[in-house]
Amino acid sequence: MSDLQFDYTNVLADVISPEHGLTEDQLAGFAERSGQALERVQARRTQDLRWMDLPYQTDVVDAIEAYARSVEGRFETVVVLGIGGSALGNTALYQSLNGPFPEGRSDRRKLVVLDNVDPELVGPFLERVDPRTTLFNVISKSGGTAETMSQFLLVRELLLKSGIDDWKDHLVITTDAEKGVLRQIVDREGFQSFVVPDGVGGRFSVLCPVGLVSSALIGIDIRQLLAGAAHMDQRCKGADFFQNPAQVHAAVQTLLHLEKHKPMAVTFSYSHRLKDFADWYAQLLAESIGKKHDIDGREVFAGPTPIRAVGVTDQHSQVQLYTEGPFDKWFTLLSVAEPTHRVTLPSAYEDLEGVAYLGGHSMSALFDAERDGTRVALTDAGRPNATLTLPKIDEHSIGQFIALFELSVALMGEHYRINAFDQPGVEAGKIAAYALMGRAGYEARRAEIEAAGAGRTPRFV
Ligand code: PA5
Repeated sequence: MSDLQFDYTNVLADVISPEHGLTEDQLAGFAERSGQALERVQARRTQDLRWMDLPYQTDVVDAIEAYARSVEGRFETVVVLGIGGSALGNTALYQSLNGPFPEGRSDRRKLVVLDNVDPELVGPFLERVDPRTTLFNVISKSGGTAETMSQFLLVRELLLKSGIDDWKDHLVITTDAEKGVLRQIVDREGFQSFVVPDGVGGRFSVLCPVGLVSSALIGIDIRQLLAGAAHMDQRCKGADFFQNPAQVHAAVQTLLHLEKHKPMAVTFSYSHRLKDFADWYAQLLAESIGKKHDIDGREVFAGPTPIRAVGVTDQHSQVQLYTEGPFDKWFTLLSVAEPTHRVTLPSAYEDLEGVAYLGGHSMSALFDAERDGTRVALTDAGRPNATLTLPKIDEHSIGQFIALFELSVALMGEHYRINAFDQPGVEAGKIAAYALMGRAGYEARRAEIEAAGAGRTPRFV
């Protein structure tokens, strides 16, 4: 199997229950609306939804690979300074494709993604990082996000103080072609830089230089990643609803939420290496669909709540709730058909049946049995669940995965009738932070925040 597969058997009413499941007729009845949504989204791919064409960019890939070759052997560690859409995809690509213990592999390098400004994280990082062997990839589409810019200031000073002659070569910047203070800094200092293209929002940016530069630097095959995404893009162009995984996935999410009252979408990763893609998808879903207004300006307070779980670990913490708690969730299990590693359990204690039965089995058999056990438990408890299976963990499959979810979320935007491509709630937080940090131009907002605070009676215990 080389195609990613979305199995939605267990969301169907005749498997789950008429109360909590969807009927084939319901899905078929949604097909026309879904087809129209697909047409509207596809029509925008050469306009404002340029992220849809990222799988086909060749010049950028050539440039990124040439840059990666030019610095090969010079750095032991790559550090990403970025946050949100400028960080989550990098982490997910690294954890899935370079695996949990890349140390010691000559073809794969270490990546650290510093996506917070908590001094308890940044302080110890600055104490330990060796700037002489580190390449810093600063990523910000807007080129002004306070978290990323503050990290940039720290790292720049670290490099300057370290006395490295070619300190500028230890920085590579990914930002907008023209807008933002980071681009001004690139122009002033002459840092190596890459561009976040127009029409590519933060959470849809993993297949542009935002995700590709760090990937190429740590040994990921970015051509195969894009080839996988292009493969899924072609699969999802088809108008036949039941043959189009993005259409089916978006319809299942929408119908289970809006008609079967399941506002919680749990991504349950039965792959340790895919668990950070559950985080990546959480942002994609939450920021894209979580909106106060619909496209006509009416207040709707839309959006499913993404939840992340890791199999089998969270079987021992969350599955009790999932099988016996409220009927407000649906589940997507992430699964991998072909494991990369084979681990066989040794036979021992033949006289003790409580442990002897494990001997000789592969660990994959145990892992798969646990996943299938959870699937059975959810299904028996009447909880809708689907399984998304990757053929294996490699660049091509991960590319398919990314393209599927990005298109599905774009379709959901149409179904929920909201703008899936803005993030006013995120911007509001950024503006409040600029105001509280005393940034020029934000004085009025600061005064508003302080006035609101002054009018409140604090209560403490
Ligand atoms: O998806 C988004 O738009 C956000 O999560 C941004 O990626 C995040 O706020 C970081 O923004 P920027 O890349 O402009 O620094």
